[in-house]
Amino acid sequence: MSDFIHVFEPGHAPALLLLHGTGGDEHDLLPLGRRLAPGAALLSPRGKVLEQGMPRFFRRLAEGVFDEDDLRRRTDELAGFVTEARGRYGIPAPVAVGFSNGANIAAALLLRHPGLLGGAALIRAMMPFAEPPVADLSGTPVLLLSGSQDPIVPAANSAALAGLLQADGAAVTHHELPVGHGLSGMDMALAGKWLQALSPNR
Ligand code: MLT
Repeated sequence: MSDFIHVFEPGHAPALLLLHGTGGDEHDLLPLGRRLAPGAALLSPRGKVLEQGMPRFFRRLAEGVFDEDDLRRRTDELAGFVTEARGRYGIPAPVAVGFSNGANIAAALLLRHPGLLGGAALIRAMMPFAEPPVADLSGTPVLLLSGSQDPIVPAANSAALAGLLQADGAAVTHHELPVGHGLSGMDMALAGKWLQALSPNR
């Protein structure tokens, strides 16, 4: 298996791919995943890039300015990991739940590897590529939760990401919440409901 340090917790569908923010690790979002989708399978890798000792999923040149060559390479590597993990653990195409840096690489996964993810909840994501590839995301459900007081992600940037994913055919639900960059109770409530609606029988 591609060498990502990770945790896998077996469970039912939808399987969640948990992608942490800068400075997090594979354990960070497990409580969130368990709360958002009780009993769901959880796959939680640790980003391989270290920024002053803090794990991330790809390099950045400054806050909000990405090393896009590295981002492309890391996105493809993570896609390989997800594909191998699906075979190894017998899980369906996972729904990504990404926060901040993890949401950004989840957006990059959607754009570079359409069909890899069953959907994505992107919490405080921004446009990952200056010139995004054209992707066919027909029917892929995407939840985008942005914060109107987010000092890292300008409102216009998250709106542009929502527009791009929609233009690619994704079924986008975008909420702009009256919050900053951090995770809030509103994120939990909205993400939980959105996931529930993806598999209403649970
Ligand atoms: C990023 O680098 O992905 C964004 O600036 C968000 C962050 O990790 O702080």
